[in-house]
Amino acid sequence: MAKVQAGLGTSHIPLLGRIMDVGDSDKAEWAPVFSGFEFTRKWIREQRPDVVILVYNDHATSFDMKFIPTFAMGCAEQFQPADEGYGARPVPTVKGAPELAWHLTEQLILNGFDLTIVNEMDVDHGLTVPLSMVFGQVQEWPCRVIPLAVNTVVYPAPTGERCLALGKALRQAIEQFPEDLNVQVWGTGGMSHQLLGERAGLINQPWDLSFMDSLADDYQRLAKISQVEYIRESGTEGCEMVMWLIMRGALNQVKEVHRHYHVPVSNTALGHIIFEQEAEP
Ligand code: DHB
Ligand code: FE
Repeated sequence: MAKVQAGLGTSHIPLLGRIMDVGDSDKAEWAPVFSGFEFTRKWIREQRPDVVILVYNDHATSFDMKFIPTFAMGCAEQFQPADEGYGARPVPTVKGAPELAWHLTEQLILNGFDLTIVNEMDVDHGLTVPLSMVFGQVQEWPCRVIPLAVNTVVYPAPTGERCLALGKALRQAIEQFPEDLNVQVWGTGGMSHQLLGERAGLINQPWDLSFMDSLADDYQRLAKISQVEYIRESGTEGCEMVMWLIMRGALNQVKEVHRHYHVPVSNTALGHIIFEQEAEP
């Protein structure tokens, strides 16, 4: 049986992908950012997930204004790093897990979550930057990855409540898959940030920290945060944080094993958290 063994949350700041790609991540000025992932890189080598369900948002890269799926499951064999305007990142092709992805899609749709099925898609920084932060610079990504894309770009994004419920349904669906697989669910995006308009540059550190503080045990409070509150408190792009609730919903009782926060990075704060699934009684 497949099982969700752990989950993590991380920002997916495009600048950090660029810093790694040009070979600057070991420079002293970046130590406050990358040192927070030393634990993670050791941890992931021990955990050895077979499949990561990587919850992210496409930033008008593969989905433009013509098609904006609220939730989209990547069912393809592979996904190429996208060209976001300055060439594709020099990172490995992402290998999918179509059998599991189709199983999850079927179970979730039967359970009332009307996912969009995606059979061809390039993946942008929302997906590739978390892979680079966690695995470092590698020839091949060491596990298969199912992209689960969530619309957080065009209002209205799905509510936190809906995302939490999707995470719970995802966990059930994973556990119905007969193959013995070590599965992780990653939530990406955030933290507070606003990239455009009069409030561009907005960062709300107390809000970020309180979100991370509540995620393990008080996530029901987070699920009640409305779209308008995200926008007011954490900026127009801050609602990317709903994707961390999908990750949280996919886990039961958790133990927080690592946390990292650094502000500012680019136009936001870098937030990162790792949860291990507590053994079931
Ligand atoms: C930035 C872009 C993002 O998509 C994000 O989630 C955080 C920061 C940026 O350009 O700084
Ligand atoms: Fe983003």
